[in-house]
Amino acid sequence: MAQQRTAPKIVLAFDAYGTLLSTQSIADNLTSHFGPDQAQTIATAWRRYQLEYTWRMNSMNQYEPFSTLTLRSLTHALADSHVSLDPEQTELMMGAYDSLACFPDVPELLTTLKNTPDVRAVIFSNGTQKMVASSVANCPYLSAHTECFEEIVSVDRVKKFKPAPEAYRHLAEQVGLDPDDVEQMERLWLVSGNPFDVVGARAVGMSVIWVDRGAGGWRDELVAGVAGRPTEIVGGLGEVVGTVVGV
Ligand code: LAC
Repeated sequence: MAQQRTAPKIVLAFDAYGTLLSTQSIADNLTSHFGPDQAQTIATAWRRYQLEYTWRMNSMNQYEPFSTLTLRSLTHALADSHVSLDPEQTELMMGAYDSLACFPDVPELLTTLKNTPDVRAVIFSNGTQKMVASSVANCPYLSAHTECFEEIVSVDRVKKFKPAPEAYRHLAEQVGLDPDDVEQMERLWLVSGNPFDVVGARAVGMSVIWVDRGAGGWRDELVAGVAGRPTEIVGGLGEVVGTVVGV
């Protein structure tokens, strides 16, 4: 049981989609059907609706697995562009979601994680266990170094999507930390490229590294002051371990 583990010094919880895995490669898959411009429009709308659907489900106190919402949001995004895919093409596209490319800075992250055994790492995602496990298995870097991540923590167990507090509290419990203990929550670091995820984790007292690959700077204004900002900002995953070890 997670609660019986010795409380670790630092735990890094890596978001999957948009942090380890690039949803951009979906546009490449759509290009063969719709050409590059429309493919990019559909891919962007797909990701937007996928997240919007999770937030709406949370607000309605309802739940469907992320895989189901990913499929429904694809249908919505296609309809916005007045196009469709037949069932076989749709299945292939969903399969593409389970084999997304990882970002080019992932190998550097894995090297630094291996050289820093005191830091524990897990993957923490809205995706179901099956989706994320399949993405890890299909990514050559991640599948060759699965020992770097102790486990995949999916919100599917608590049936609340990020940024609901239940999702982050579940993560804390899974890694053997007490979600009601302020000091323990500060030792639990979310690493995410998604600003909404950053703000959600900060709201429950976690420390957060925001991965700002585009160097665009922090713009989210939902929560005022430092409580609504990442604890640290990095330009790529290779800087993450050095940042927390130096804190
Ligand atoms: C995830 C979404 C937020 O992996 O990208 O949880």
